[in-house]
Amino acid sequence: MSEGLNVPPVEGPFGVYVHVPFCSVRCGYCDFNTYTADELGEGATRESYADTAIAEVELAARTLALSGGVPAVETVFFGGGTPTQLPSADLVRMLHSLHSTFGLDPEAEVTTEANPDSVTPASLAELRDGGFTRISFGVQSAVPHVLATLDRTHDPARVPEAVRWAREAGFEQVSVDLIYGTPGESIDDWAASLDHALGLEPDHVSAYALIVEPGTALARRVTRGEIAAPDDDLMADMYLMADDVLTSAGLGWYELSNWARDEAARCRHNLLYWHSADWWGIGPGAHSHIGGVRWWNVKHPAAYAKRLTAGESPVHDHEVLDSSTSVVERVMLEARLREGLPLGILEGGRGAVPSLAERGLVEVAGDHLVLTREGRLLADAVVRDLTA
Ligand SMILES: C[S@@+](CC[C@H](N)C(=O)[O-])C[C@H]1O[C@@H](n2cnc3c(N)ncnc32)[C@H](O)[C@@H]1O
Ligand code: SF4
Repeated sequence: MSEGLNVPPVEGPFGVYVHVPFCSVRCGYCDFNTYTADELGEGATRESYADTAIAEVELAARTLALSGGVPAVETVFFGGGTPTQLPSADLVRMLHSLHSTFGLDPEAEVTTEANPDSVTPASLAELRDGGFTRISFGVQSAVPHVLATLDRTHDPARVPEAVRWAREAGFEQVSVDLIYGTPGESIDDWAASLDHALGLEPDHVSAYALIVEPGTALARRVTRGEIAAPDDDLMADMYLMADDVLTSAGLGWYELSNWARDEAARCRHNLLYWHSADWWGIGPGAHSHIGGVRWWNVKHPAAYAKRLTAGESPVHDHEVLDSSTSVVERVMLEARLREGLPLGILEGGRGAVPSLAERGLVEVAGDHLVLTREGRLLADAVVRDLTA
């Protein structure tokens, strides 16, 4: 591990995130740590990626063995980038390395993200047979001009097919990601995308407000005035529409941007993040958190591969969270959950509660503080008041 990094023992539920930093095209809005074939440069290849990541899995298990024991893995999440840019056999090999080093809980949730145009019936069957239980498709929109502004490459007609293949392969949970607020997207366009998503009969939907990330092609186009910035009022209307439409279809919100058919369909891996539990992040730029210590790997796949090939840790840096930072983070994450924020963690921030309640933004339910629907629209401002 990097100089000075002492990993505490894992004491509660434990998950593993596996980052796969490859995409066929970079979407103009995306600032994830991902590379197209042209951007990757020398020193890292898609072909060698699984072996490099497995070397980190083995290093992680050795590190945890020295700090109190190797925990069984309850949730695994392959994210990206686009994990399904790699052959399914490579994803399965990485998953099996987790099984043989850490051990997977028999009820483990194992998710992969996927672009609809990066899967086939055979690739999905291989993932399911290899132990994946959940798949999250990046659908984003069903409207061609919105998909074009987002630089999405898939044909919307392909999405129902990909979802059907996933069901036929036996995936227990199918989720879809949507984005709202794309410049030029009307409320009717958004209604059409929600309708399209529900037609897929998903177990779970994530609907994200488009963020114009600094440094992206989208941000440059907005700065040049080529396209308008997302409109906050329209985004609020779109959020409320999503909540109405998804709720009427039997998908209940359980986190600000996430709706699930029932409790079993909630993403257990993301819940683990939102409850500040422990996870190890495998891959370039991946972040990890165990017992109040957080660390992150070198960002570029070539630098990551070089470290592991030399038998060295890929950790770039770390921080030890002090108690006030931990509280602020807990407030930020847990306030967004339907079950709410335990009032006990609020300390000084309790002073803000009466005025937030008077403004209709929060409700006290037992010993938890819960955002109202109005409060969900202003969650960032509520959190600011609670942590001021
Ligand atoms: C790593 S991507 C998902 C996997 C896959 N590469 C894809 O795009 O379909 C995770 C999700 O983050 C969301 N996302 C990425 N950048 C975003 C942004 N700037 N604003 C809002 N949502 C974003 C998208 O919904 C995307 O599906
Ligand atoms: S949104 Fe997904 S497909 Fe697009 S660049 Fe980001 S990670 Fe790749």
